[in-house]
Amino acid sequence: MKENINIAASILSADFSKLGQEVKEVDKGGSDMIHIDVMDGSFVPNITIGPSVISKIRPFSKKPFDVHLMIDSPARHVDDFISAGADILTIHYEADKHPIRTLDYIKRKGVKAGIALNPATPENVLEGILDYCDLILIMLVNPGFGGQKTIPSQIKKVKEVSNMLKKYKKEVYLEVDGGVNPLNVKNIVKAGANLIVAGNAIFKGGTNFYKKNISALRVPRVK
Ligand code: DX5
Ligand code: ZN
Repeated sequence: MKENINIAASILSADFSKLGQEVKEVDKGGSDMIHIDVMDGSFVPNITIGPSVISKIRPFSKKPFDVHLMIDSPARHVDDFISAGADILTIHYEADKHPIRTLDYIKRKGVKAGIALNPATPENVLEGILDYCDLILIMLVNPGFGGQKTIPSQIKKVKEVSNMLKKYKKEVYLEVDGGVNPLNVKNIVKAGANLIVAGNAIFKGGTNFYKKNISALRVPRVK
């Protein structure tokens, strides 16, 4: 059985001086979702944007906003990101003392809830959380920056999580983020990923290349 994968363009690699236009262009180029990286300078070394910027770029696309929170104690800010227009809100397992409470809260607000794992976090922590999330995000790099290389061991982790989802009969997004490019995407999809985040691989070359770059990542999923 064949099933299409979804592509989410990470605007971390976009030109921040014209972010709204960039969102419009990757939408036009065929991205299925807009991936937005929120960093607080504490959970990760980098600082990016918050809810006020997200609400400003919201009108530039009708595609789902996939908001990846790389912030400590994310529960404090969930309401603000929902008001700003997030359709999917992903928190890091390592950043929240009570991830189930936060995921449950997000879902009750009518937004899809995601849990992200850093490369050093083993996949078995997911077993107790699966019932509370719509999305699992496996970080293929240590979060904080775009343009890094995928850590090969993380692809095995994607496979393990995919097997876990089959075992528990859970149909959720299995998202990957970090260093994905047209050369490694086939293996990553083969491991079970069905939502692919890419920053550099999509934004490189400028606006005229977005469509071509997105198509190059769109490999079929064979079950
Ligand atoms: C990294 C971010 C990613 C990043 C991916 O911490 O979560 O979303 O933008 O960028 P690339 O695809 O360039 O590795
Ligand atoms: Zn991300």
